[in-house]
Amino acid sequence: MTEPTVETSDDDLRRRALARTPGGVHSNVRLAGPKVFIDRAKGAWMWGVDGTDYVDYLLGQGPNFLGHAPDVVLSAVERACRRGMVYGGQHALEVEASELVCEALGWAEMVRFGVSGTESVQAALRLARAVTGRTKVIRFEGHYHGWLDNVLLGQRDDAWGVASAGQLPHHHDDFVLVPWNDPAAVEAAIGDDVAAVIMEPIMINAGVIEPAPGYLERVRELCDARGVVLIFDEVISGFRLGLAGAAGRYGVVPDLATYGKALAGGWPVSALAGRADLMAGFGTGEVNHSGTFNASVMTMAATVATIRSLRDDPPYARIADHGTALMTGIRELGARHGVALHVQGLPAAFHVSFGEQDATDHRSLRRLGLDRYTKFAEALVAHGVWVAGRGVWYVSASHGPAELDATLARFDQTLTDWL
Ligand SMILES: Cc1ncc(COP(=O)(O)O)c(C=O)c1O
Repeated sequence: MTEPTVETSDDDLRRRALARTPGGVHSNVRLAGPKVFIDRAKGAWMWGVDGTDYVDYLLGQGPNFLGHAPDVVLSAVERACRRGMVYGGQHALEVEASELVCEALGWAEMVRFGVSGTESVQAALRLARAVTGRTKVIRFEGHYHGWLDNVLLGQRDDAWGVASAGQLPHHHDDFVLVPWNDPAAVEAAIGDDVAAVIMEPIMINAGVIEPAPGYLERVRELCDARGVVLIFDEVISGFRLGLAGAAGRYGVVPDLATYGKALAGGWPVSALAGRADLMAGFGTGEVNHSGTFNASVMTMAATVATIRSLRDDPPYARIADHGTALMTGIRELGARHGVALHVQGLPAAFHVSFGEQDATDHRSLRRLGLDRYTKFAEALVAHGVWVAGRGVWYVSASHGPAELDATLARFDQTLTDWL
């Protein structure tokens, strides 16, 4: 067998991609991304087919938390795959991965694995509705929970609704949308018909906004008082803010939580974790959760290797150092160039904009000059710093002093050329 031919020109690859793939991309999120093709990636770096190197702060939208192609994960997957990939039966690695997830989280007693955050969110919503016998779900402006009909939300002017042609609007009738970080809004919306409250416990997907002091605690209390299932969507924050994610950082425990991205060192793994009494519904067969590729051998090997690595050689202090220095460096460069560059969030995940003050919810986030930043992000990519247009930066365990120097020098040059 011959290796597939890989063209080495962006133009040629783009022409071929556009001929065979709508928009030339396989996820609509990438329609707005840089129009270059990546040849390879390792650690904190990616290289384009034209040889350009990029310091990566997108991390594949988050999964490469250990850096690209981490040896510890690669060798575990390679070893495991030689014994088969998908059994359609149970195996020891999935048991170990389940134990490791529950131990890492501390509060969760059981877990079910999937392959994408989107589907684990669906499993959580179905389970919450099954155990409560109720249908309504409270959710929050600007929080992302996947691309399926019932959760995908778009905003035009100030009205929220479907985000895609073909999306069934009536699914949204079962959701109550309220502003986040506002306990009174939850209190007003929560009633005896509500099955669940679902939120990103730290809002990261659209921008990086921490929960106000006492907010998560108050939502927890309201859920307890009304018998409502509290779901934390930790697809971004899980394993990134610490082994126990946002629940661990803020000390508020949900009933169910979803994970993905940083969980498996770049492999497609998601998880729904939760209280045993709730999760039991899947075990009796009363509540359906299925999937051909769930807990495949390679994804479980990747999960075990990733969690062991995060547990035994925690990168969190290093990431905090790098992220803090980077946030400070960006602010200083803004001041030196006389441009209001606003940085908010945590060292592992922060948000850069041309705003003047911290956003506290999605409404204030929209006032941060995001369109201007999106253009600036394109210039950053052209200067070799790979970032998302929406302003979110992720730091990995592989970012060190060399990457910090390279990033700040490139950022500096971008500002010089751009202003
Ligand atoms: C908070 C949150 N939930 C769910 C998802 C959906 O995950 P996936 O893209 O793996 O389906 C995402 C993806 O970005 C996310 O950020």
